[in-house]
Amino acid sequence: MRILVLGSGAREHAIVLALAAEGAGHEIRVAPGNAGIAETATLVADLDPNSPAAVAGYANTESIDLVVIGPEAPLVAGVADALRERGIPVFGPGKAAARLEGSKAFAKRVMDAAGVPTGRATRAHDRAELEEALDEYGSPFVVKADGLAAGKGVIVTEDRDAALAHADGYLASGPVLVEEFLSGPEVSLFFVSDGDTVRALSPAQDFKRAYDGDEGPNTGGMGAYSPIPWLADRFGSEADFVAEVTRTVAEPVVRRLDEEGTPFIGLLYAGLILTDDGIRVIEFNARFGDPETQVVLARLTSPLSSLLMSAASGTLETEPAPTFSNDVAVTVVLASEGYPEAPVTGRPLGGVDAAEGSEGVHIAHAATRREGDELLATGGRVLNVVALGATFREARERAYHALGEITLEGSHHRTDIAAQVSND
Ligand code: AMP
Ligand code: GLY
Repeated sequence: MRILVLGSGAREHAIVLALAAEGAGHEIRVAPGNAGIAETATLVADLDPNSPAAVAGYANTESIDLVVIGPEAPLVAGVADALRERGIPVFGPGKAAARLEGSKAFAKRVMDAAGVPTGRATRAHDRAELEEALDEYGSPFVVKADGLAAGKGVIVTEDRDAALAHADGYLASGPVLVEEFLSGPEVSLFFVSDGDTVRALSPAQDFKRAYDGDEGPNTGGMGAYSPIPWLADRFGSEADFVAEVTRTVAEPVVRRLDEEGTPFIGLLYAGLILTDDGIRVIEFNARFGDPETQVVLARLTSPLSSLLMSAASGTLETEPAPTFSNDVAVTVVLASEGYPEAPVTGRPLGGVDAAEGSEGVHIAHAATRREGDELLATGGRVLNVVALGATFREARERAYHALGEITLEGSHHRTDIAAQVSND
């Protein structure tokens, strides 16, 4: 197949690596990609991935068989709609269904209508409504921006003044959401959907806070592991957990969106908190999660292209369920100095080849550019070290050993990714 992937992060690198690993001779093109992706795929530098007309025109002229949309921006811009109008298979929801991620208020409404378990929430339009809602829900306070904020629009704090200050920053441009605080471990579960049938991938845990011990600001994600061994203690088995979320979350939401005339074709990302009262949805995303994708797809043993193509063409029901390796996967993100607030970019990276040479390890580039002989860090999250192993202890040791080979002035990373499961 000739496949066009849109995006430039480690998630897109993971998608490209999984497509290439099939050994099916796919011709993979990526717009815009990064220095790591360029080693496996052809970069299309002059195509704006956020322009519906440009992407549809390119896919048409170049006879692209399948377009895979990585990030949320092209979805929200309507790139999938433009492709579908031309009959080009695309993995990614249209603009209307992508509001599941783009608008927290829309997601709450759909969840309510579909009977999906989630925390209580109130929309505050001004300071008075905000203060009233904070007092109603009490501490810890949870305040969210309504629109896309790259994982940084949320504050969870016991400090009422900090919650107010955070909300003030967003209230100028629209309402904010005040939510009931939910307590429990978090799980990310991905579903591939063709608008009707859904297929679950293997669960992963993401580490959203910037620093060890879940301290510091929320980020896009600093590391992840998959599968989640402790799900078996709580739910009997991972399969039972996945079946419950499929039945109570993914299927009702996909059915509801179909009934509303906005079918969800693409990746439904369920961000879950496992509370003592049961599973609750904290957020949906309309795309693969980053960095969870790096560990989930590293374990995928069935072909990714046919899964995504079946979703894009409405034939998921006849597609076999995806399968996963018994190996476990751990990924650690290397971040630039100052990430997430004000990342310093443009510095040279060293030791990436040595890290890549470590046993069981590969590197998924997030924000890199090659300039002559040098590899430069061009963003906040720079790269992911991804390690597979027979046990979490092994995968974790491999990941941190490889990370130790990499140099980037001022960089930081978490040292506790998958630490709690490393006896499993
Ligand atoms: P979100 O962008 O909605 O995924 O939120 C980012 C992070 O904030 C989540 O991964 C949680 O760790 C935390 N969070 C969001 N909503 C809640 C909530 N209602 N209760 C507790 N923590 C939350
Ligand atoms: N890792 C969180 C996200 O992709 O939104």
